[in-house]
Amino acid sequence: MNIITDPRELQKQCLTWRSEGLTIGLVPTMGYFHEGHLALMDRARPLCDKLIVTLFVNPTQFGENEDLNKYPHDLDGDSAKAQSRETDLIFAPESSAMYEEDHATRVDVPELGKHLCGASRSGHFKGVCTVVTKLFMLTQPDVAVFGRKDWQQLAIIKRMVRDLNIPVQIIGHEIIRESDGLALSSRNAYLTEKERAAAPSIRKGLVKMAEMVKNGERNAEVAKAFLHNEYASTLPMGTVDYIELVDPDAIEPIEIITGSTLAAVAVRIGKARLIDNILIEV
Ligand code: PAJ
Repeated sequence: MNIITDPRELQKQCLTWRSEGLTIGLVPTMGYFHEGHLALMDRARPLCDKLIVTLFVNPTQFGENEDLNKYPHDLDGDSAKAQSRETDLIFAPESSAMYEEDHATRVDVPELGKHLCGASRSGHFKGVCTVVTKLFMLTQPDVAVFGRKDWQQLAIIKRMVRDLNIPVQIIGHEIIRESDGLALSSRNAYLTEKERAAAPSIRKGLVKMAEMVKNGERNAEVAKAFLHNEYASTLPMGTVDYIELVDPDAIEPIEIITGSTLAAVAVRIGKARLIDNILIEV
């Protein structure tokens, strides 16, 4: 497995592979791998000749008061894990190699970024779209895999790829969870023991609310109020950032549940801001 830090070297390698008729799979990440990241690699592996995993804590998607400088990292551990999943190449650039000092171009899909994480993390998805576009231009992948844990991110990237005619197939992968239901996240590392013990309530509440909708509740306000109450009693140490029911593609809030609906939440527990979601088919 090759580790590359220079974007030009990466692009040269990928253009060579393409000229040899080899297909390329891409898994973009910010590192500190858990089984969720590794599942994306396993998903991409059989779909391509060359599997590239990128590992870059992208500064343009972090807000001023967010955890950019505290984001956990472990390049050696990550490299070993990626290698064990038969990754061909890791791209781990420095920020200065990715962004010129006077970089001025941004890619944005504002329509899908108005709610959920887009509302509470201003500019976040603009940073994500910009870096993912750069990664697509550098690697020219045939296929790229993203997790459904970041459902809104996945919806935005799919729309961006469609709108800009980027020739890559986007695959969404299911959420990988701990045995107690907590969605795996690099940010789970911020939780204290007590916070970690309470965190599975995020998922439990979502499942309960989904049951309620499946059993006939159609009023989104009622369902959301139910979940607010659930979290108030089962997760008193948590602060709800948002609880929302949206159209899964348009990411627009819905009032009356008539079809496939995404229930998405973000909850702050201690130093961690954790997100989760559930797709409710009615
Ligand atoms: P990061 O948070 O490192 O996540 C990398 C990929 O792993 C994303 O596609 C994310 O949805 C997926 N992922 C994380 N936890 C998961 C879980 N429990 N189950 C399944 N998939 C999971 O998302 C980013 O990085 C960045 O925004 C990035 C796309 C790399 C752009 O900088």
